[in-house]
Amino acid sequence: MMDLIIKNGTVITAKDTFKADIGVRDGKIEVITRSLDQMEAKQIIDATGNYVLPGALDAHTHLEMPFGGTVSSDSYEAGTRAAACGGTTTVFDFVIQGKGQGLVEAVEGRRALCEPQACVDYSFHTAITDLTPAVLKEFKQAVDYGINSFKVFMVYKKEGLMVDDGVMVRAMIRAKEVGARVSVHAENPDVIDMNIENFLKEGKTHAWYHYLSRPEYAEAEADKRAIHWAKSFNVPLYIVHLACKEGMDEVTRARQEGYDVIAETCPQYLYFTNEVYKREDGRNFVCSPPIKGPESQDALWDGIKRGDISIVATDHCPFQSYEKDWGKDDFTKIPNGCMGVENMYPYMLSEANRGRISFNKAVEVCSTNVAQLFGCAPQKGTIAPGSDADLVIYDPEKTYVISKDNMHSDVDYTIWEGVELKGYPVMTFSRGKLVYDNGQFVGEKGWGEFVKRTPLT
Ligand code: URP
Ligand code: ZN
Ligand code: ZN
Ligand code: ZN
Repeated sequence: MMDLIIKNGTVITAKDTFKADIGVRDGKIEVITRSLDQMEAKQIIDATGNYVLPGALDAHTHLEMPFGGTVSSDSYEAGTRAAACGGTTTVFDFVIQGKGQGLVEAVEGRRALCEPQACVDYSFHTAITDLTPAVLKEFKQAVDYGINSFKVFMVYKKEGLMVDDGVMVRAMIRAKEVGARVSVHAENPDVIDMNIENFLKEGKTHAWYHYLSRPEYAEAEADKRAIHWAKSFNVPLYIVHLACKEGMDEVTRARQEGYDVIAETCPQYLYFTNEVYKREDGRNFVCSPPIKGPESQDALWDGIKRGDISIVATDHCPFQSYEKDWGKDDFTKIPNGCMGVENMYPYMLSEANRGRISFNKAVEVCSTNVAQLFGCAPQKGTIAPGSDADLVIYDPEKTYVISKDNMHSDVDYTIWEGVELKGYPVMTFSRGKLVYDNGQFVGEKGWGEFVKRTPLT
């Protein structure tokens, strides 16, 4: 007797596409076979005509994070609820180390906040803001705890997040020693500050100047600098939210030379261009690094197709429209961040459905690679016997128009308003439990579990 059988679907993993029935027991995939017609189950789903995919892992979220003079609008409950409704069954959230705080202490504080709220499984990256010798030593304890990824910000001085190259390189070297990886937010802070100062002096305050103060060159220099250090010390590097062509080219070169340099981009960089900042509601699209021009967008898509972008993640960090409005007359007052946790997988699958990439590629960058590169495969990120039954049933024929009214986060608008997708998830299962069913969230808060990750080899 199985708990769940999904019958007659087309199973899609990063590597394969095949027709099969899937049997689930105790939250795990137990059997994948041509037919389970003779087997009984408490719940049987007929997926005829639909695809069965592994749930996505969003490698980059900021839920209820203090930032930009406020707190990002989606709580752990709202953010993970929205994730479930977009076929994402694990989120990796950022814990920001407080000054003087230990890393495990910081993680435990956020874990306590997340645990009673989480609707899907979760893990954490830690962002280093205060790299004392004790903290460097503690990287090992953090890895033993299940955290093998440490983030540094090359910007955000006034927010108290920025580190210098000395800190970045020390963190990179220590991370390698303990089986972890450093990720970087790469932009050049000094040139951005100069641009901002000049624009404000000239009374140039619209959201368009957010883009112009940190255009392609401001990101490219920092992408290249981070890669330069990773190559010089031969240490792993992960560039989060890569958004520019020059950075993409440098990532590609480093990978061709055999370095362990990995890049992530986000759906907002793949769908929108910098033109959005000229719009009346341009401030709603303000994030850092900003969305770039079409040449960069093309380079990112090419990077995905070549395999030089390994991960698509959201950088989900929404703010309410009243908070975005603080920057109506001064772009520097706009809290930085956009929403996407419910949109990433449906958007990437829709692009697959339209033929831009294969479905296998969409699964690879949104799910499998995240699990493999961050130490939770094969528990997560695939459809295989023994893996968690994090499954999405996807209807390739469905047409879906995104609107704030059909989203499940707590934000009062979406930058994705009106975007039409070809195909859409109809059901999401988290460890065998149905959490999303045809437009409705049907899961429960507190269901999600902490995913303990293993050291990287
Ligand atoms: O604008 C952004 N991306 N906000 C979230 C924080 C970060 O930089 O990732
Ligand atoms: Zn069958
Ligand atoms: Zn960032
Ligand atoms: Zn981020």
